[in-house]
Amino acid sequence: MSVAGGYGEYAFIADLYDHVALYRDRPDIAFYVDAAKEAGGPVLEVGCGTGRVLIPSAQAGVDVVGLDLSPHMLAVCRERLWHERADVQARVQLVQADMRRFDLPRTFTLATIPFRPFQHLVTVEDQIACLESIRRHLVDDGRLILDLFNPWLDALVNREIGQEYNDEPEFSTPDGRRVARRHRTVAHDRFNQVNQFELIYDVTHPDGREERLVHAFAMRYVFRFEAEHLLARCGFEVEQLYAGFDKSPYGSQYPGELIFVARKTPKGL
Ligand SMILES: C[S@@+](CC[C@H](N)C(=O)[O-])C[C@H]1O[C@@H](n2cnc3c(N)ncnc32)[C@H](O)[C@@H]1O
Repeated sequence: MSVAGGYGEYAFIADLYDHVALYRDRPDIAFYVDAAKEAGGPVLEVGCGTGRVLIPSAQAGVDVVGLDLSPHMLAVCRERLWHERADVQARVQLVQADMRRFDLPRTFTLATIPFRPFQHLVTVEDQIACLESIRRHLVDDGRLILDLFNPWLDALVNREIGQEYNDEPEFSTPDGRRVARRHRTVAHDRFNQVNQFELIYDVTHPDGREERLVHAFAMRYVFRFEAEHLLARCGFEVEQLYAGFDKSPYGSQYPGELIFVARKTPKGL
């Protein structure tokens, strides 16, 4: 099974990540930056990747600790930070650690897990270990923002196993590679709510050479009430549930996102 959703095994993902149109244009940055400013920091960003959300948060004046298991993603984040002003760099600390078990010497007013890293945890034990690790690092009344995809029932039932879908715009990299990306579900474990996915990158190099790179990983889908029970079990109370990063309420669109804002509750509540 892939570790950390495959981000640790395949260096090419970190190399291409910031150029993927779907990631580059994801409309979540202002939402997370506002939440970080409101919390006042320090913020713990779990699964921070290449710093897509972390760097704008530090640019907005918030102290952020970014935690990720993938050395490749963290290397890209460090490289991006190197181009930032000294005061932005000074607000960031990066830690290579597993979100299921980490121990940092400080606490945070807000923890975030932007863009679904939590769904790479495919067992309940791992989900609980992650939420408990986060809770230990929050101040009393600290908040957690957990964003997940809302399982789209039509796709879960009807998506053909093995069929490649090509519904994303092509993108290019600064060194002139053109990339078309497809995705396919390789297997669907309905009992454990785990899909085995492949993201397939067809790369055309500037000299015309063609290369196919495959990112294989597992993702667990989590339903709304399941997530709420999980959060309650781990000492969090859901304060808000949004369907979109414009703060549209859950139920206003389908499938939309599952964006939980949860408050750390005293133990045992
Ligand atoms: C889809 S990316 C999201 C990156 C970033 N949060 C963003 O919004 O662009 C998922 C990230 O989760 C990280 N990740 C997956 N499993 C992890 C684990 N067990 N511990 C820490 N990081 C993990 C991956 O390395 C990857 O950087």
